[in-house]
Amino acid sequence: MIEVQHLTKRYGRVTAVDDVSFRVERGEILGFLGPNGAGKTTTMRILTGYMPATEGKAIVAGFDVFDQPIEAKRRTGYLPETPPLYPDMSVGEYLAFVAKIKGVPPAERSQRIKDVMARTRVADMADRQCSKLSKGYRQRVGLAQAIIHNPDVLILDEPTAGLDPKQIIETRQLIKELAGDHTIILSTHILTEVSQTCQRVVIINKGHVVAIDTPDNLTAQLGGAKTLYVQVEASGADAAAALGKISGVTRVIESDRSGTAIGYEVETQSGRDVRRDLARTVVTSGWGLLELRPTRISLEEIFLSLTTEDTAPPQASTTATTAAAGDIAHE
Ligand SMILES: Nc1ncnc2c1ncn2[C@@H]1O[C@H](COP(=O)(O)OP(=O)(O)OP(=O)(O)O)[C@@H](O)[C@H]1O
Ligand SMILES: [Mg+2]
Repeated sequence: MIEVQHLTKRYGRVTAVDDVSFRVERGEILGFLGPNGAGKTTTMRILTGYMPATEGKAIVAGFDVFDQPIEAKRRTGYLPETPPLYPDMSVGEYLAFVAKIKGVPPAERSQRIKDVMARTRVADMADRQCSKLSKGYRQRVGLAQAIIHNPDVLILDEPTAGLDPKQIIETRQLIKELAGDHTIILSTHILTEVSQTCQRVVIINKGHVVAIDTPDNLTAQLGGAKTLYVQVEASGADAAAALGKISGVTRVIESDRSGTAIGYEVETQSGRDVRRDLARTVVTSGWGLLELRPTRISLEEIFLSLTTEDTAPPQASTTATTAAAGDIAHE
């Protein structure tokens, strides 16, 4: 549904986007994640036809955004970083205006406006002047104008920026509801947002794609799920020695102690699930099992390791190579 091939954008001597390639399948939500200045907005502006690329190609809903811009734009809804509202119009007037310029047939307009106002929960603000809206409502009206012509593709530049926690949850829910019918790219710095909303993530840094994968695979790939954390109450017995004897356990390290409870990091051979044996050992020894869970590196850690120079783990470059080759796994 969206195909980006070797996209590069230079502003004079600044290369904002450098050979970026990825695909988004129909009905999918792709998270575009990166720190400030990574090139997210630049990529989105190119995809929506607001700005030409220096090199490369982008196809949206089957149309080349450079060669067939009108066709591509007709099928795209765009929420820019700053929603493009007209300050003197009321919300209702503004949405009617957008519906008209986006080619919603006159007979369908009023129903369509009603529908999007209900979906984005702005109906109670229909008569409010756009200039008098709060930040969160401006964002919602921005989302309403993006979906008014029922486009195949939605490009949302930080859709939850500036919203309160309740609005964030509502907006994420709305985005999830819109997927399926629509193909969505959303940009964000918020890591929990991608794991909660997106099926796949593109991590971009300084104009380069550094990883493309599902949130779960990113977490697992970069070293996760090989260590367990177990907390026991062993009343003076040498629990570490006992746990170390379990088949598949390679190392046991005491990590914390509070009162009679001792926490251990248990390293295991790759591919071995020792949780049952571990629990059995603790219980048959007559100890208390207070906690047992896999320790996985968080998306925060992956993000930092991929976007911080010189500290990227070797696995990160493997991911980057896969991404750069344009072969997107897990399709
Ligand atoms: N019009 C412009 N002229 C020159 N440089 C620009 C222009 N627009 C963006 N840039 C530069 O391009 C790079 C990418 O900017 P972009 O706005 O795409 O980043 P972003 O990932 O959206 O960041 P943020 O998270 O802050 O929104 C930055 O280095 C920025 O300074
Ligand atoms: Mg931006």
